[in-house]
Amino acid sequence: MDLFRKKSVDQLVSESTPLKRTMHTFDLTMLGIGAIIGTGIFVLTGKGALTAGPALSVSFLLAAICCGFAGLCYAEFASMAPVSGSAYSYAYLAFGELIAFIIGWDLILEYALQAATVSAGWSGYFNKLLEGFGLHLPVELTAAYGTTPGVTTYFNLPGFVIVLLITWVLSIGINQTKRTNDIMVMIKLIIIVLFIVCTVWFVNPANWHPFSPYGIYTFQPGSTQPYGIVPAASIVFFSFIGFDAVSSSAEETVNPNKTLPKGILLSLAISTVLYIVMTFIMTGVVPYKEFANFIDAPVAGVILATGLNWLAVIVNLGALIGMTTVMLVQLYGQSRICYAMSRDGLFPEFFGHVHEKYRTPFKGTWFFGILTAIAGGFININVLFELVNIGTLSAFIIVSAGILWMRKTQPDAHRGFKAPLVPFTPIISIVFCFILIAGLNWETWVRFAIWFGLGLIVYFGYSRKRSKLEHTNAPEVTDDYVEAAEAGTTK
Ligand code: ALA
Repeated sequence: MDLFRKKSVDQLVSESTPLKRTMHTFDLTMLGIGAIIGTGIFVLTGKGALTAGPALSVSFLLAAICCGFAGLCYAEFASMAPVSGSAYSYAYLAFGELIAFIIGWDLILEYALQAATVSAGWSGYFNKLLEGFGLHLPVELTAAYGTTPGVTTYFNLPGFVIVLLITWVLSIGINQTKRTNDIMVMIKLIIIVLFIVCTVWFVNPANWHPFSPYGIYTFQPGSTQPYGIVPAASIVFFSFIGFDAVSSSAEETVNPNKTLPKGILLSLAISTVLYIVMTFIMTGVVPYKEFANFIDAPVAGVILATGLNWLAVIVNLGALIGMTTVMLVQLYGQSRICYAMSRDGLFPEFFGHVHEKYRTPFKGTWFFGILTAIAGGFININVLFELVNIGTLSAFIIVSAGILWMRKTQPDAHRGFKAPLVPFTPIISIVFCFILIAGLNWETWVRFAIWFGLGLIVYFGYSRKRSKLEHTNAPEVTDDYVEAAEAGTTK
C-alpha cells in the first residue's frame, strides 16, 4: 500500500471542473477580507487586551507576520495548482495522499467549527442590536447551553437561523454568493474606517503605559493561562484566519495563476493595517484592564467610553455584517474542500455532487451548513476556538513545508507567482506557527491530537480503499467494489 502516492500538477489541473469561472482579483480580495475581519477583531480583542495589555497591537503584528509568510507560500501553491482543494490539494502534490487527507480532515476543524464559533459571536451582537430597539428574545434561546455563567440558556436560535440562511445563499450559486459578499464587505470596511476616524480623537497616550505589562510570555500567580504578547498573538491569530479560503476558489476564478496570489496577499495586507490601527486606538481610548467590563463586545465598549452612542449602533451592525461574511466564506471553503476530497474518492460521492442548475456542490453545502447550524446552536463553542487556531496553524506548517519540498523536487514546474526568499520564507512561517502553537493551552493540543486520531481511523477505515489513485483504470469505486476488493474477488 502506498500511503504517499502523489498527484502531479498536470493531473490536478486537468481534472476538469463543472464549476463556473466568474471571480476576479477584486472579488477574491473581497472574499479574503470577508473571511478575515469578523469575530477576531469584534470579540477576541477583549481577551487579547487583558492578555497582552496595550502591546496587543504587537500581538496582532506577530500573528500578521506568521500569516504573511504562510500567505506567500499559499500564493505560490495557488499559482502552481489552481484547484479547489487549497492546502489539501497542495499536500497531495507535495507529500502524497495520507498527509493530504489529514490536512483535509484538519480543514474541517478550521472551516466548519470556525463558522459555528462565529455564529455564537454573531448571536451575541444580534441580541444586543435587538435590545437597542427594545426587543428581547426569550433568554433561553439566545445562546447555547452553559455559555453564560449564571444564565440559563439552551439554544442559540439567531446563530442557527443565520447559518441556514447563508447555506441557502451558497447553495443557489456563486454569482449570488459573490454579489452578496462584495456588498457586505464594502459596508464592513466603511464602518471600520468610520470607527477609526471617530474614535482616534479620544486616545489618551497615558493609557499606553505600561505598554507591555506582561512581557513576551508569563504566568500570573494562581492562573494556568499564559499572559503576554505571544499568548495574545495565539488568541488573535483567529482574526487572520480566512485568507487561505481564497485559494479554495481557484476553480471558479478567471486567470487563477495571477489573480489568486494577488487576492490572498491584498486581503491580508488590508486587514493587517486596519487591525493594527484599530487596536492602537482601542487600547489608547480605554485602559487595558477595563476591557474586562465589556469582554464580549470590546469594540462597542470602547465606543461607549467615548460617549458616541450613535456610533455604537452602526458598529454593532458592522460587526454583524462582518461575522456574516466570515461564515459565508468559511462555509464556502468547506464545501469546496469536501468537493475536492470527494472527487478524489477520499470522501463519499455525495459531497462531489454538482447541482445541474446552480452548478454548486449543492448537497455538500447543505450537509455542512446544517451540521454547522446545529453545532453553533447547541454547543458552547467558546472553548473550541483555540482548536480552530491549532488546526489552521498545522495546515500552514504543511503548506510551508510543501513549498520547500516542491522547490527541491520540482524546481521547473510552472509557477505564476514565486514566494520571495525561499527557503527563508517558508522556514520563518513554520517557526512562527510553532511559536503560536506554543502559546495555546495544552488542553487544545490534546483535543487536536484526538481529532487527528479520528482522521486516521476514517482514512484507514474508509478513504484509502476508495481513493481514485488506488483504482486508476479500474471500474467505478462503489461500496460493492470495495467489499469485493477486500474479499479478493474483484476481476
Ligand atoms: N478571521 C475570522 C474572524 O475573525 C475567523 O472571525
